[in-house]
Amino acid sequence: MSRTDFTYVESVSPGSGRRDPRAALASDAAALSLDGEWRFNLAAGLHDTTEGFEAPEFDAANWDTLAVPSMWQMHDLDGDAPYGKPAYTNTYYPFPVDPPRIPDANPTGEYRRTFTLPAEWPATGRTVLRFEGVDSAFAVWVNGVLLGDGKGSRLPTEFDATEHLAAGENTIAVRVHQWSAASYLEDQDMWWLSGIFRPVALVHRPENGIEDVFAHADYDHATGLGTLRVETTAGARVTVPELGIDIAAGETASAPVEPWTAETPRLYDAVVATDAERVNLRIGFRTVTIEDGLLKVNGRRILLRGVNRHEWDPDHGRTLSVETMRRDLEIMKRHNVNAVRTSHYPPDRRFLDLCDEIGVWVVDECDLETHGFVHHEWRDNPSGVPMWRDAYLDRMARMVERDKNHASVIMWSLGNESHTGDNLAAMSEWAKQRDPGRPIHYEGDWDSGYVDVYSRMYADTAETDLIGQKAEGRTKDPALDEHRRNIPFILCEYAHAMGNGPGGLTEYQRLFEQYERCQGGFIWEWIDHGVRRRTEDGREWFAYGGDFDEPLHDGNFVIDGLIFPNREPSPGLVEFKKVIEPVRISVQPGSRTVTVANLRDFADTGDLAFTWTVEDEGRAVAEGELEVRAVAAGESAIVAFPAAVAALAQPDGERWLTVRAVLAKDEPWAEAGHEIAWGQSRLAGVSAPAPSGGTAPVAEGGGYRLGGAAFDALGRLTAIGGLEIEGPRLDLWRAPVDNDLLGWTSQLAPRWKDRNAGLDRLEHKVLDIESTADGLTVSTRVGAGGAEIAMGAVYRWRLEGARLWLTVEVNPEGKWDFPLPRLGVRASVPKALDQVEWFGGGPGEAYADTRAAARVGRFQSTVAGMQTPYVFPQENGSRIDVRWASLTGGGRSLKVFGAPEFAFTARPWTSEQLEAANHTYDLVEGDRVYVNFDAALQGMGSAACGPGVLPQHRLLPEATAFTLGFEVTE
Ligand code: GAL
Repeated sequence: MSRTDFTYVESVSPGSGRRDPRAALASDAAALSLDGEWRFNLAAGLHDTTEGFEAPEFDAANWDTLAVPSMWQMHDLDGDAPYGKPAYTNTYYPFPVDPPRIPDANPTGEYRRTFTLPAEWPATGRTVLRFEGVDSAFAVWVNGVLLGDGKGSRLPTEFDATEHLAAGENTIAVRVHQWSAASYLEDQDMWWLSGIFRPVALVHRPENGIEDVFAHADYDHATGLGTLRVETTAGARVTVPELGIDIAAGETASAPVEPWTAETPRLYDAVVATDAERVNLRIGFRTVTIEDGLLKVNGRRILLRGVNRHEWDPDHGRTLSVETMRRDLEIMKRHNVNAVRTSHYPPDRRFLDLCDEIGVWVVDECDLETHGFVHHEWRDNPSGVPMWRDAYLDRMARMVERDKNHASVIMWSLGNESHTGDNLAAMSEWAKQRDPGRPIHYEGDWDSGYVDVYSRMYADTAETDLIGQKAEGRTKDPALDEHRRNIPFILCEYAHAMGNGPGGLTEYQRLFEQYERCQGGFIWEWIDHGVRRRTEDGREWFAYGGDFDEPLHDGNFVIDGLIFPNREPSPGLVEFKKVIEPVRISVQPGSRTVTVANLRDFADTGDLAFTWTVEDEGRAVAEGELEVRAVAAGESAIVAFPAAVAALAQPDGERWLTVRAVLAKDEPWAEAGHEIAWGQSRLAGVSAPAPSGGTAPVAEGGGYRLGGAAFDALGRLTAIGGLEIEGPRLDLWRAPVDNDLLGWTSQLAPRWKDRNAGLDRLEHKVLDIESTADGLTVSTRVGAGGAEIAMGAVYRWRLEGARLWLTVEVNPEGKWDFPLPRLGVRASVPKALDQVEWFGGGPGEAYADTRAAARVGRFQSTVAGMQTPYVFPQENGSRIDVRWASLTGGGRSLKVFGAPEFAFTARPWTSEQLEAANHTYDLVEGDRVYVNFDAALQGMGSAACGPGVLPQHRLLPEATAFTLGFEVTE
């Protein structure tokens, strides 16, 4: 047998021997899943492949077995990683850029299995092998005969196997290459992983069967009529029993229908049948248009509250179970997300079935990205090179044909970050002719000549504001300006959810609500692509770029999602949920009314119940239901406070009224009672204690004593009420967050740490200690080695009964030309005090520009429970607007009071240890609890990829003072 022809691997051709693309259909034709254990051998490259492995008689008995579908690098990573390891790069190709050539070191998986054709398998018709996804190029043999080859990792490929199948046992062999010419088209920011990673099946194609279906199901919002026309096999019948529709292929029927929207995902069961085959469809009637410069569905402007979703599973890579897909959608819907951009490739087709059913708007994106060429001024970028045209068109056709019957898919996206070129324009042209019912999206060409929406990523709020006013800069090509200025605007990526943050969501949302043209966007991104690992002693952690010793990698840039790799929501998602809440509740103490504004596009509020609670100092004193009529989309209702609120006795502390909107009944994605939105206001009782009184300190043991508080000779507090305490003293440092470390033009963290600042290594020099009639005053200068700039910090201690008050006066000295990470004091107490309670913002962390979701209440946690487990450790866990907080344990309690408020963190390690850690396992609890009481913290922004902290959320150094009270009880 001659050595196999490998030319397809480096060929720009999308494949050979394949069948025409068609819709993914639920058919009653015979089918046989080929998922399961296959024999597997991994070759180092083409030179190392097994000659004749495809022959039926080849003996693979001593080969390993590997699950199909799966990605071969995801196996046994805590063991001996038998099939290599994941590798992560963002934009750089991990191989020399020399298209279409790829390296000789090209891991190649050889897969084999046998299967038995069931005895009842039809003898007529065709039998087709269907691959849902193979990364990246592959060739297929049945019973030793080559059927063809394919590329396009996240797209389906079908081969006709009819002629080569035998009754009884058959052999299938597949050779899969990690690298191929197609790798140049698949440079998405994600792990490089390979294999047959989506299902494989043998499907029967009956003669006169339903080969393809294109269901056009429109909705006329003026008449309420749905119109159905199905392009399919001539002579087929189309029935929709619920609507009494029974028409022939190609005929049109109209009936009054409930339209499909993401808010009201109404589907109708339909059957398309010939006498040979029956296909079940779920039809949603809806019409997508670009009209008046707006993206409309069923005649109305929609607002996209979206996320960019990569397919990710921390154990299996891009092989996802249906449960995981459903889980993603449940978490999204529970957090008010209404749209998904399938960044940056068509998802497993079953995900789109779920989108139709559960209700989200989908921008279906083609499997195309050539980002690596940006590093070479886009030279040879395939988007503009004619030889790649077929590959581009092939990809578009395979996506559109597969997904064209999904109501949820409202736009086609050509791909991502592939610059511009004729091949992209050709994709757009083809799709418009094939499917005039869906607008085209693509971000990479800002002139927007061949797209229907103006799409950008990471534009800041100032530019978004201009775009909202249609006052943005002109297009490069003047001929395109009018077109672009009159199309809707979408941020296909914004608010980079890497680590702590993203900050500034509220400001974007305001613009989306202010300007019709700004129709929302998609957060970058849904999930952290962390790979689950375990330490030897069994602790879970998540790997990122570099953890597999990749020579070229982009570190933790792959950890930038709203949910952690284990799908636990991050604080960023909780914040997003609040910012995009589809119902806005405002409690107005002045007029004693509650306004309920329905920000949805279609549905009224009839699915919601409203509840109210009055809390005094965070303890409920009264609660009930609030009667709110069903408010139509886009409208508001004003409701008077419940009578019971007025009837309440005088408040005991601060009194707050909170109104919540919850699901009145179960939905497929959440149970009745699930909270959708809330609003609250203070009704009475501002508790802003101010220090008064005072006594003179007494000298004791070389130091000082103020009632129960002991100070050393340098005027440093050492104990209070018998509790040993270190600090509090001025602290300006935080373990940098990703948004401090990265930045397009400048980065804050390096500035903070440089020789002229040194905020991470401050020294505290005592200048003066003064005992006065009402307390102790300690004057200090806080600065770092090498630095000239410093903070003057004066600590004024004063005793009022059992409470020790501290006022810190801070004065910047020298030229401070950057915002501070934080401004406050740090202290530590024994570890036993690990139970936490506070009254203020909560329950989760919140910073200056990530504070929408923090509601005022009384919360309990533990020190451990207050940590946010960012995959890459960084500043986290600060609670905002805290009136008081207590740390309790070992029979003692330290209570700290704000005057009026402070921000509060408690952690079992220091900021320095947090900064030094690269993974969660590096964080080891010490024997202290470290607390920060801050007057303020710098916001988070989105500088890791995008704009930094908005001016109003920056913490600029200036002369200021803040006050805290301390009390220890047994
Ligand atoms: C965008 C890109 C995304 C991702 C993001 C940064 O430019 O489209 O795929 O890389 O930046 O996380």
